Amino acid sequence: MAVSVSHKLKSLLVPSTRVVVFTGAGVSAESGVPTFRGKDGLWKEFNVQDLATPEAFARNPARVWEWYQWRMEIVSQAQPNDAHRVIAWMESFFSEFTLITQNVDGLHDRAGNRRICKLHGDLWDVRCLLCGKTERVTGLPPQPLPPVCGCGGMLRPGVVWFGEMLPELEFSKAEKAAMQCQLFFSVGTSMEVFPAARLPNLAREKGAYIVEINPEPTSLAGKADEVLIGKAGEILPLIQDSTTAFRTKRGNS
Ligand code: OAD
Repeated sequence: MAVSVSHKLKSLLVPSTRVVVFTGAGVSAESGVPTFRGKDGLWKEFNVQDLATPEAFARNPARVWEWYQWRMEIVSQAQPNDAHRVIAWMESFFSEFTLITQNVDGLHDRAGNRRICKLHGDLWDVRCLLCGKTERVTGLPPQPLPPVCGCGGMLRPGVVWFGEMLPELEFSKAEKAAMQCQLFFSVGTSMEVFPAARLPNLAREKGAYIVEINPEPTSLAGKADEVLIGKAGEILPLIQDSTTAFRTKRGNS
C-alpha cells in the first residue's frame, strides 16, 4: 500500500521551525552501508566484544583497526542517498533544525548538513591515546595498522565504543533540541541503543509530534504520533514534497 503523509503532519510541517531528525544506520542502508541489526546486520557476522569495546582494542588494536578500515573502505565508495539529501535540505528549510545522528559514516556531512550532533563519534576522526589530539582523515587510516600519532602514541578510531560515555557536549545539545522541538523524526534506527534511544521519548514528554520512519516498526511505534512504514529514501522525499506543496498552497490562498 502506498504510504501517505497525514494531513496533520502536512499542516505541522510549514509552521514548525523547531525540528529534530534523529537518525540511525537505516538511513545509510540505501547507500549500501550495512546496518548493525536485522538479517544482514554487522552484529550477525561480527562480535561486538571483539571489535567495539575499549577492552577489544587493548587486546588486539590491529584487529580492531582492520575492521574499521574495512568499514571506511565501504563508506568511501558509498554516496549519500535521497534520505541524506532531504535531511540536508531540512537544515536549510527549518530555522531551528537539529540533526542528531548515531551514524559514524560521514554521509550526512557529505550530503551538506553542517550542524550535526554526532552521538557515536565519526569514522573519519582518529584520536591519539597519548596526547589526545583528534585528526581528520580523508582516505584510510595511516599505515601500518595500528596507526601511530606524530607524538608516538597509538591512534584509535574516533568512535564511541560499547561501555564508553557519549560525548557530553553533543549529548546535552541533543537533549536540549529534543526537549524544545515541535516535530521529531526518528529515522532508520532500531531504538535499541541507549542513551540515544531515550531522545524520542524525551521529545514526546515535552509535547513534540513524533514521527517514525522505518520499514519495520520499533518499540517507538506504539508511542509515536505517526508511523511511516518504508525506506527512508522513499518516505523523506514525500515529506519534502508535502512541505513545499503545502507552502505553495498557503502562499496562493
Ligand atoms: P540498527 O542496525 O540497530 O537498526 C537499523 C534500523 O534501520 C532498523 O530498525 C531497520 O529496520 C532500519 N532500516 C533498514 N533499512 C532502512 C531503510 N532503507 N530506511 C529506513 N530504515 C531502515 O542501527 P542503529 O539503530 O543506528 O553503535 O544502531 C544504533 C547503534 O548500535 C549504532 O550507532 C552502533 C550500533 O551498535 C555503536 O557502535 C556504539
